[in-house]
Amino acid sequence: MLVNLNKVLPKARKGRYGVGHFNTSNFEITQAILGAAESLNAPIIVATSEKAIAYAGIENISQLVITMAYKAKVPVVLHLDHGRTFDIAKTCIKHGYTSVMIDGSHLSFKENVKITRRVVRYAHKHGVTVEAEIGRLAGIEDDIQVTKGDAVYTDPEEAERFVQQTGCDALAIAIGTSHGAHKFKGKPKLRIDILKKIAQEVKIPLVLHGASGVKVKWINLVNKFGGKLEQARGVPDKLIKQAVKNGISKINTDTDLRIAFTAGVREYLRTNPEVFDPRKIIGFARAMMQKVVEDRIQTFGSKNKA
Ligand code: G3H
Ligand code: 13P
Ligand code: ZN
Repeated sequence: MLVNLNKVLPKARKGRYGVGHFNTSNFEITQAILGAAESLNAPIIVATSEKAIAYAGIENISQLVITMAYKAKVPVVLHLDHGRTFDIAKTCIKHGYTSVMIDGSHLSFKENVKITRRVVRYAHKHGVTVEAEIGRLAGIEDDIQVTKGDAVYTDPEEAERFVQQTGCDALAIAIGTSHGAHKFKGKPKLRIDILKKIAQEVKIPLVLHGASGVKVKWINLVNKFGGKLEQARGVPDKLIKQAVKNGISKINTDTDLRIAFTAGVREYLRTNPEVFDPRKIIGFARAMMQKVVEDRIQTFGSKNKA
C-alpha cells in the first residue's frame, strides 16, 4: 500500500526503530527494495533524487513505484530526495509522490524557513508529507559538492525553532555522516551527544542522511572481479543502532546499493562470459541489492514492523 511518512515514522520514533529510505532510479533497484521489505515485513521508503528523475523520467519512475507499491503487502512511501526547489516538489506531488524533501540546508536559516514553509503549505493541502533539513552534510548531493570543512552540525535550538516555524513532518540533521563512499578519514564517529539534544528539543521524526555502511566485503567483491574501488569508510552498524536508539527514525541509503549493483554485474559478467541476456546479468545484481536492503532493515530494527 502507498502511504505518506506520517503513516510510518511517528510509530518508528515511538518504538525506537528506523525505517529504511533507499534511492532508486530504475525497475530492478525498485524491485530489490520492495522485495526486501516484503520478505521482512518492513515499512519502506522508496526515494528518487532530482538526478534520478532526470535519468528515468518523472512519469515512468513515479508510475513504476506507485504500481508496485499498490500491490505491496507493506507500507511504501514514494519520496522525493533532496528537492531543491518548490517547482520540483510540486511536480512530484502532481505525479503522485506521497512525500517530498525540500532541502534548503545550503540557504540561510531565514531562506530555508521560507522555502520549507511554502512547500509544507502546498504539500499538506495534497496530503503529502515534507522532510526538511537543517545543518549541512559533507559530500555530493546532485551536483553540489560540500567539503568536510564546510559541513555544519545541526544546532539543537535552531532545529526546534525551524520545526515550529515550518510545520515540516520530518527533519534531516547533520551529526557527522556525509554522502558517498568516503565518509570518515579516521575512525567513524557520530555526534550522538548532539543527536540526544536535538531529540530532546524536536519531537517530530529525525532523519539520518549519508548512512551507507560501505562494508569492506562489498568493496572487495567489486575489486575481485576487476573493479578498482578504493577502500572507504561508511557508517558501521553499531553507530547506526546507536543513532536509532537516540532518536533517528528514517535512515537513507544509496551508495550501498550502487556498490552491490556493481559487484553483481562484475561478478556475473566475469563468471559467465558467454551470457548476453540482460535479465540474467541485471537479475543477478538485483539479488545482491536485495540482500543489502535486507541486511540494512535488520540493522535498523524495522523487520516485522509493517
Ligand atoms: O543523497 C544523494 C543521493 O545519493 C542521490 O544521489 O543525486 O546522484 O542521484 P544522485
Ligand atoms: P549514502 O551516500 O550514504 O548512501 O547516503 C544516501 C542519502 O543520504 C540519500 O539521501
Ligand atoms: Zn541525502
